[in-house]
Amino acid sequence: MSLSDHVERLFAPRANGTPPLLLAPMAGVTDAPFRALAIRYGADLTVSEMIASQAMIRGIAKCLKMSQGADPEATLAVQIAGADPVAMAEAARMQEDLGAEIIDINMGCPVKKIVGTGAGAALLRDERLAGRIMETVAGAVKVPVTVKIRLGWDDAHRNGESMARIAQESGMRMITVHGRTRAQMYSGEADWRAIGAIKAAVSIPVVGNGDVTTPELALKWWKMSGVDGMMIGRGALGRPWLFRQIARYLACGTPGELPSLAERGAVIIDHFHAMMAHHGVRSGHLLARKHLGWFTRGYPGGAAFRDRINHAPHPEAVLTMLREFLDQTMERAA
Ligand SMILES: Cc1cc2nc3c(=O)[nH]c(=O)nc-3n(C[C@H](O)[C@H](O)[C@H](O)COP(=O)(O)O)c2cc1C
Repeated sequence: MSLSDHVERLFAPRANGTPPLLLAPMAGVTDAPFRALAIRYGADLTVSEMIASQAMIRGIAKCLKMSQGADPEATLAVQIAGADPVAMAEAARMQEDLGAEIIDINMGCPVKKIVGTGAGAALLRDERLAGRIMETVAGAVKVPVTVKIRLGWDDAHRNGESMARIAQESGMRMITVHGRTRAQMYSGEADWRAIGAIKAAVSIPVVGNGDVTTPELALKWWKMSGVDGMMIGRGALGRPWLFRQIARYLACGTPGELPSLAERGAVIIDHFHAMMAHHGVRSGHLLARKHLGWFTRGYPGGAAFRDRINHAPHPEAVLTMLREFLDQTMERAA
């Protein structure tokens, strides 16, 4: 089987006709422990946090951790960012050597720090450079290369369709489209009609992304846009089981069951331990607090719990508070 099959396999026709569901790359969030959770609950592909190509080349240890695999069985897709074709190609090669099975190029990040260096969404304003980066990276590695874009820089410059054609001509194997412009950042609603127009402009697989938070919205926007896959980011924060619920809904019209409270509790505790094992006790437990906040959103007493853990002196104290919180939540539910 050729290595390029990692993308082919993702989009292989399924008996029930449903599209693959992907976990969006999210800096500071989609580390190996969270990607493992998404895979456990049915994500068909997860993507690492964005890794700056220059930092990768300089051998910054953090980059290695960011691109660590989440599950030996799951495809490892690593996202790189940068504005220099040669450096991007070098970073891609290094990631391939380390085991990346798909390289994704970031052309959508809107934050000033990235855009200011000509990377991320800034590349939407320079189609020639964007094309050169894609071509050079695709030519540098054997694994499939994919790209993630937005609709354009702003409303006056919505060049998503043109970018998608360039991506196709440059050897990209899949395009993910976040249905907003750079100017929108994260405001307003993702425009799934515009995503649909981009999908119609090319023949390679197009994955739609933006605001998929429920099975019902997933179905509505999948049908509206005709995309080949759907990518979910913020909707999965604290709710990695959303993938399973959406997959079931798309297949048979009823959402997959929410895991029991006991299962969710066990998952939250396991994830806390996994964060400490992955990042080290000190950083791990601090980073895990963010996830605990998302996991406990909407539960009675959640706000007070979040406030308490933010003042907890050490990881054991957080674990004790977490166990108490889960016990109380279960008692209430019983
Ligand atoms: C905290 C955070 C970090 C993100 N980091 C990245 C990133 O590293 N690379 C990337 O391509 N997109 C990044 N994004 C954008 C998401 O991948 C996604 O396109 C966006 O959140 C819209 O999808 P959603 O509405 O499902 O969250 C990030 C988004 C958030 C909220």
